[in-house]
Amino acid sequence: MIEADYVLKLGGSAITHKDTPFSANTACIRRLAKEISGSVGKRIILVYGGGSFGHAAAIRHLSGGLVSSPSGIAEVRAAMLALTMELTRGFMAEGVPIFALNPSSCLVFGNGGSIRFGGAAIEAIEKALEGGLIPAMGGDIILDRGGGARILSGDTIARMLALRFRVKTLAFGTDVDGVLGPSGAIRAISRAELPGVIGMVGGRSGDVTGGMSGKLAAVRDYLSRGGREVLIFNACKPGTLARALSGSPEGTLIK
Ligand SMILES: Nc1ncnc2c1ncn2[C@@H]1O[C@H](COP(=O)(O)OP(=O)(O)OP(=O)(O)O)[C@@H](O)[C@H]1O
Ligand SMILES: [Mg+2]
Repeated sequence: MIEADYVLKLGGSAITHKDTPFSANTACIRRLAKEISGSVGKRIILVYGGGSFGHAAAIRHLSGGLVSSPSGIAEVRAAMLALTMELTRGFMAEGVPIFALNPSSCLVFGNGGSIRFGGAAIEAIEKALEGGLIPAMGGDIILDRGGGARILSGDTIARMLALRFRVKTLAFGTDVDGVLGPSGAIRAISRAELPGVIGMVGGRSGDVTGGMSGKLAAVRDYLSRGGREVLIFNACKPGTLARALSGSPEGTLIK
């Protein structure tokens, strides 16, 4: 079984201008690609969030957790394809061999909103890693067995792939310095402290997957299933990603 060093989730809050619909942060995408290109030999699986593409489209069509109309489903899919292209273009411009895979092409939600990564999706990621590519999956709209479609957040994809590929670190890059407490970013959070912290953090307007609070729920799930360390860092600050990948993380460490 192939393992990876990092699952790195690039937040939509960093790779897009989240408050301006359908606006990629091209400068940030290219800088992050450059920082990744410096970590030669590391096996990295990329995940990315919807930012002002996925969230902006989803918010128009979601009702009770479901997108029902074919035109709404198609619109959210198209939004994520557009962001996928922006990310791909930025990485290619920096010479980083990104290999984007569409979760909606290989996953379906089962009863009760359950989802399982297996078969073709995992094998494609394994082959990409073996071939020196950087596999990438974005948050997506996934068809539901019961009809319609649901949103699968990048945070959830990240925690599922991190478990499957037994990574050393699951890292979330966002537009804030980590989990913010009353006096700035919290340096370290233990497993036992996590539920209390989740009660304190908030979401974000315009975000359909819970903002920081949704992310920490994914982290809690990850740790309860045997996940190792999690880092939440500021991907908008130059150098932070490169330092995290070279073993000098800044931000909030959770383990
Ligand atoms: N206590 C907190 N600490 C940090 N961020 C918080 C807190 N409470 C609320 N937030 C909000 O959560 C946001 C980060 O979550 P958000 O989902 O927007 O980022 P992301 O996951 O990178 O983006 P995307 O979902 O598009 O991938 C912050 O920008 C902030 O507005
Ligand atoms: Mg989010």
